[in-house]
Amino acid sequence: MTPQTSRQDRREPYSGYYLRDVPAYDSELTEVGPGTPMGEYMRRHWQPVCLSRHLEDLPLALKVLGEDLVAFRDKSGAVGVLHRHCSHRGTSLEYGIISEHGIRCCYHGWLYGIDGRILETPGEPPDSRLKDSLAHGAYPALERDGLVFAYMGPPAEKPAFPLRETFDRDDVEKIPFLVNHGNNWLQTYENMMDPVHSVFLHSRMTGLQLSGSFGEIPHVEYEETHQGSGLVYISNRRLPDDKVWVRHVHFRFPNEAHFGTVFDIGGEEVFFRRVYVTRWIVPHDDTSCTFYGWRFFRDDLPGGDRTRVGINSIDFGGQAERPDYESKQRTPGDWEAQAGQRPIAIHALEHRASTDAGVTLLRQLLRRAVRRETPSAWPPESAVGSRASGLRRTNPRYTYAQDTVLTVPGKSDREADRRCLGDAGRWVTDVLYQADELDDGARREFVVERLRELNRG
Ligand code: FES
Ligand SMILES: [Fe+2]
Repeated sequence: MTPQTSRQDRREPYSGYYLRDVPAYDSELTEVGPGTPMGEYMRRHWQPVCLSRHLEDLPLALKVLGEDLVAFRDKSGAVGVLHRHCSHRGTSLEYGIISEHGIRCCYHGWLYGIDGRILETPGEPPDSRLKDSLAHGAYPALERDGLVFAYMGPPAEKPAFPLRETFDRDDVEKIPFLVNHGNNWLQTYENMMDPVHSVFLHSRMTGLQLSGSFGEIPHVEYEETHQGSGLVYISNRRLPDDKVWVRHVHFRFPNEAHFGTVFDIGGEEVFFRRVYVTRWIVPHDDTSCTFYGWRFFRDDLPGGDRTRVGINSIDFGGQAERPDYESKQRTPGDWEAQAGQRPIAIHALEHRASTDAGVTLLRQLLRRAVRRETPSAWPPESAVGSRASGLRRTNPRYTYAQDTVLTVPGKSDREADRRCLGDAGRWVTDVLYQADELDDGARREFVVERLRELNRG
C-alpha cells in the first residue's frame, strides 16, 4: 500500500497516487492448474476440449487446465487425448503420425494407443520390455453432437456424462461452436450471470449487438438450484401490449451454462420455449479460455443463422474478438470487456453495485463448491432439494433455461410495475420447479398448461 493513504485521500479528485496498488487476484476461484482447488474441481467433470471437425488427418495441440495435450482421431475412428510430449524424449505429438490404432511420435517412432499404452518402441531390441514398463499420460474422451469431451480427473472418480434433457432430444439440431477469450475463465463465466451488461455493452454503448428487447434494464432475481450446484437468474422485462417476458438463464457448476433466446422475443405469448445455447467455459490456462457449446435450432426456436455458427463465430453479436484494434475500441463486445478486466480480474479492486448480485452469488456458490461444502456440486450429482426452495426437489436432469411471454397488465406506477414483473418471474419459476419430478413429455405438458392457466388468471 502506498504510504500515508487515508480513506479521505482515496476519495479526493486526482487521487491516482493513492489508488495505484494492485492487490493479488482470487487464486481459489481463478487458478486451474493441476492441484489447485478450482482446477481439481473442474477435473471431476467432463470438459469439451475441441470440435469433432478439428480431428481429421492431423493431430491437434491443445492446452486445457494448464496441461499441454494433443487430440487426434486414429484411422480406426477412435479419439485420443494424450499428454502432448512424448514419453521417450519429449517431442510434441502434434507432429506425430496418425496410425491405424493410435499415434506415432515423429522422432523415434514410438506408437501410443488412445489410452496411453505404448504399443511399439521400434528402435529397441525385439525382446525389450521397455514399452510394458511405462504408460503415457492419456485421458478418456467421448464425442457428443460435434464436441469432443475429455475427463481429466482421477480414473476412479470418472462420472457418467451429465444427463440433461436438452442434450438427449433428437428433434433439435445442435450445431457445435467455439469462441476463444483472452482472459481468466471466471470473467467469461460470470459475465453470463450479469444480464445488465447486455443493456449497456451490447446495446446502449455500442449500438445494437443484440436485439432491441435486451436494451431495457430488467427486473432480475437470482436463486441457487440443485442444492448449491446451480444458479438461475430470472430476468423480467415489460414488453408492449401488456406483455411480460420472463427469461431464465441456468448455470450448472463448475462451468456449464444454458440460455434461452438471444434474439428479439417478439410480441406473442410464449409458453416454455426452450434452450437456444449451451456453453462450457473451459480454461486453457489461468489467462485464456474457450467457450464451447451448441446452438440449438428448431422451427419453434425463431431467429438465428446456422451458417454463422462455428469456430470463433456465433450468430449473435458481441461475443468474439473484434478483428482489429480500432474495431475493438469503437464497438467492443464481450471479448474486449472481459479481457479488459486484466488477464485475471482483481476482485479486491471492484466496487460491486446492486446490479452485481448475480456475480457475487456465483462466486459464493463456486467457493462453497470448490471447498466441497456442497456435495451435490460434485459428481455424481444429487437430486436432493435446493436450499433456496426448502425441501423442494430439483432434478439434475432438468435445466431451467427458457423463455416465457405472459399477458400481465401494466401498472402506471413504476415501482408497482416492477413488483408485478417480479411476481410474473416467480410464478413461472415455481411452475418449472413443480414439474421437476415429471418425465420429459409430461413436464412439457404440465408447464405449458399451468402457464396458460396463469396467463388466463
Ligand atoms: S521423442 Fe518421441 S519417440 Fe523419441
Ligand atoms: Fe455479453
